[in-house]
Amino acid sequence: MIFTQHLTKKYGRVTAVDRLNLSIREGTVFGMVGENGAGKTTTLSMLSTLSTPTSGHAVINGYDVVKNPSAVRHSIGFMPDSFGVYDDLSVDEYLEFYADCYGVDKRVIATRRSDLLERVGLSDKRSTYVNALSRGMQQRLEIARCLMHDPPVLILDEPSSGLDPRSRMDMRGVLRGLREAGKTVIISSHILHELAEIADEIGILRRGKVAAVAAVQVMLQHSSSQRTLWLESRSDPSLVESVLAADGHVTSMEFRDGGVEFVYMGTYEGQSELLAALVAAGVKLTQLTERATDIEALFLRLTSEVGGSSHDA
Ligand SMILES: Nc1ncnc2c1ncn2[C@@H]1O[C@H](COP(=O)(O)OP(=O)(O)O)[C@@H](O)[C@H]1O
Ligand SMILES: [Mg+2]
Repeated sequence: MIFTQHLTKKYGRVTAVDRLNLSIREGTVFGMVGENGAGKTTTLSMLSTLSTPTSGHAVINGYDVVKNPSAVRHSIGFMPDSFGVYDDLSVDEYLEFYADCYGVDKRVIATRRSDLLERVGLSDKRSTYVNALSRGMQQRLEIARCLMHDPPVLILDEPSSGLDPRSRMDMRGVLRGLREAGKTVIISSHILHELAEIADEIGILRRGKVAAVAAVQVMLQHSSSQRTLWLESRSDPSLVESVLAADGHVTSMEFRDGGVEFVYMGTYEGQSELLAALVAAGVKLTQLTERATDIEALFLRLTSEVGGSSHDA
């Protein structure tokens, strides 16, 4: 559905996107993660036909972005990373204006607009001026705007940037809805864990290249079947050690700072059996907590081969 081959963009001597290869299947929500300057915006603007590749190819919905830009534009909804100023346009007028630009049938516009405003939680803002909306609402309105001509592909450049936690959560809900609607989505962010909650697949972009790609499902399975736990007790460490060592799911232990950190590979049921065993052995527990999984480290570990090879290139 979205396919690039050696896609490259140079600005003078700066190579913003460097022989990028992407292959995103229909119905996939693809998260593109990268630090500032990694080349996310440049990539997405080439995919959106707003900037011309220096070399290489990009094909969306079967259309080449250079050879057939108007067909590409009708296939995509594009949300840029900055929001313009729209004097004296209400939410309703704004959406109608865009739908008109795409030649959407007048009779379709009204119903589609109502549906979309409902989906992004702005049904009660129809006559509000766009400029008067909060940033979070404007960003959600942008998603609705992208969907007015019902494109199969959405290209979203940091839709959650600059939003407070509450608005980020609302945005996540809207983005999850896109997957359910069967859209193919490419969405950028500099925050990996945020994308992991929405995307099916994640690609890390580094200096204009894909450093690693992994399926989120695989990442989450790893992170839920392997947990790092922290235990503190008022009992003799050797007692704690003997109980932990007897449990086949405990793979490593490190006693330090008045407690023990250990890796548990197994289910949550198994983990509660371990807790019961500790109590039965007379261990006076004061704390048993799960250390937050460093999803970034996990991701890089799972994809270290890809990351390593492209680093040298
Ligand atoms: N119009 C431009 N002219 C010159 N350099 C640019 C231009 N746009 C982006 N760049 C450079 O290209 C690189 C990638 O930028 P960008 O695609 O905006 O990254 P990201 O969106 O991941 O933060 C950066 O080094 C940036 O300075
Ligand atoms: Mg950017």
